Amino acid sequence: NTMTKIAVVGGGGVGKSCITLKFLRDVFIEKYDPTIYESYLKSMIVDEEAVILEILDTAGQEEYKSLVDRYFRNSHAFVCVISYDQRGSLGQMRETVKMIQRAKDEDDIVGLLVCNKCDIPKEERSITDEEVKNLSLELNLDMVECSAKTGENINDLFVTLVRKLRKK
Ligand code: GTP
Ligand code: MG
Repeated sequence: NTMTKIAVVGGGGVGKSCITLKFLRDVFIEKYDPTIYESYLKSMIVDEEAVILEILDTAGQEEYKSLVDRYFRNSHAFVCVISYDQRGSLGQMRETVKMIQRAKDEDDIVGLLVCNKCDIPKEERSITDEEVKNLSLELNLDMVECSAKTGENINDLFVTLVRKLRKK
């Protein structure tokens, strides 16, 4: 069984590390500690078949981003994270997906547009459902909402990605 490499990408503070750690360890980290680079291994069973995931938790902050490109090329699938409390994360994701397409020399990437922090009530969000839907269409990535805080959809989004990879 070969390793499936999944990169978690997106702007600074959108919740990439929290999603990763909720999935791996079922913990939620309140404190914001910007990532430089972390990688984790996790084995799981999806549809009665084992898979070993290598999860790359990448940097969102600009000062740590220089290393990010090189990981894109070797990754099989992408958790593309935006956050309901960060308007800027929409545009950042547009740029990130372009970088991935360039690094892989492939327009058709396996990924999900993951809208994190869905525990934030709609009236307090800085991104509308309409904007998320438009970005999902534009980038040709299916959309899922999640919350690293409550755990909603965290496990499911990785399962969905594994299924997408198997269908490819
Ligand atoms: P970089 O490593 O700098 O790219 O940031 P990141 O994307 O890894 O963000 P991180 O996971 O460190 O989370 C940033 C902040 O958002 C932290 O204070 C978290 O507690 C908070 N946060 C993450 N996920 C959620 C969520 O689902 N809901 C809420 N309300 N807050 C969250
Ligand atoms: Mg991080």
